[in-house]
Amino acid sequence: MQVLCTIQLIVAFRALRRIIHGASAPPGRRAKKHEEFVAVPRLPEGTNALAVWPKQPPANYLGQLEPEFQERFASWWQDVKLEDCYFYHRVRLRDGKTIDGVWNLLGCEAEYLGGVKLRGRRVLELGPATGWLTTWMEQQGADVVGFDLGWELAPDLLPLAQFDGNELRAGQVEFVSRVTNSWWLLHREHELSAKAIYGSIYDLPADIGQYDISIFGAILLHLRDPFLALQQVARRTDEAIVVVEPLAFEIDQSGHSLARWNPTQGRNPNGWWNHSPGELIDMLKVLGFPRATVTYHRQEYRPESDPTSAHVEAPMFTVVASRD
Ligand SMILES: C[S@@+](CC[C@H](N)C(=O)[O-])C[C@H]1O[C@@H](n2cnc3c(N)ncnc32)[C@H](O)[C@@H]1O
Repeated sequence: MQVLCTIQLIVAFRALRRIIHGASAPPGRRAKKHEEFVAVPRLPEGTNALAVWPKQPPANYLGQLEPEFQERFASWWQDVKLEDCYFYHRVRLRDGKTIDGVWNLLGCEAEYLGGVKLRGRRVLELGPATGWLTTWMEQQGADVVGFDLGWELAPDLLPLAQFDGNELRAGQVEFVSRVTNSWWLLHREHELSAKAIYGSIYDLPADIGQYDISIFGAILLHLRDPFLALQQVARRTDEAIVVVEPLAFEIDQSGHSLARWNPTQGRNPNGWWNHSPGELIDMLKVLGFPRATVTYHRQEYRPESDPTSAHVEAPMFTVVASRD
C-alpha cells in the first residue's frame, strides 16, 4: 500500500513538473526534424534597410483599417527583401523552409497562446513583431489585426544615465522598422489577410472596432504603463484577453500580485517590469475579465546579444482571462 502511494506520488510529481516546466510538449513539438534554413543576407556595405514611413501619420492615426489604406501599406512594403528584415521569430515559409529568429515558437503556438480558441474569432494582436503568431493564428481561422509601433514612435525607454536618449531612440526606431519589414515580408509570403495598424498603445486609434480576443504576447514587460495599455484594449475586447510574459518569480509565489520594476537594473532600457501571473490576473479582474487560467511553459530563445549562440529554454506563463 505504502509502495503504491509512493508510486502515485512520483507519478503526480512528474505530471506537475511537466506542467510547470513545459515538458508536456504536444506531439511533434520541436521534433528535431531536418529543417532547411534560408540564410538572411547582410545588407551591402553603405546601404540602409528599407524604410517606408512618410513623415506624418494620418490625423489621430485614423482610417488605417480602410481597405485602401491597407493596400497602401502593402504597396509600401511590396519589394521588401530578406536583408531589410530583422527576424524576431523563427518563421516557416510556404515551401516549408525556415528562417531563423530570436524566438522559436514553431509547434508551440497553441501552448504559447494558452490554448485559446481562434477559429472564427476577431483577434487584436498587440505587438506582433515579425508576425509568426499573426500567420499561425490566421492559419487557425482567426481574423487578425496586428497593432504595433510605427511612424516616428519608439518603444518606451527607461531614461538611464548611461545611454544617450536621442541616439538610443533613433536606433530603436530603426530597429522596429526592420522588424516591421519582416512582418510585411511574411504577409506577402503567406498572402495573409491580416491587417496592420500603428500608433500609441496608450491611445489606440478610435476607429479600430471591437474584437473577440486580444493578445499581449511578451509586450507588457516593455511598457511603462501596462495597466493603461490593458485598459485601452479591455474596452475593445468582448471575450478574452491573453497575456504571455516571461516567468521571473518562483512558481509558488506566482499567485501573489507581484511586479519588479527595472529588473535588469539598468542594463536593458526596454526592460521595464517583471510581472507575476497574480498581478496580471488582478489587473484583468478589475478591467472586467474575472475568469482566469494560468499555464506555464518553456520557449526556445536565443540571446539577442549573441546571434551565434544556441537557443536556450526560457520559462514563461500565459494568462487567459475571460469576461463572465
Ligand atoms: C518582444 S516583442 C513580442 C512579439 C510577439 N508578440 C510574441 O509574443 O512573440 C514586443 C512587441 O511589442 C511591440 N512594442 C514594444 N513596445 C511597444 C509600445 N510602447 N507600443 C506598441 N508596441 C510596442 C514591439 O514593437 C514588438 O512588436
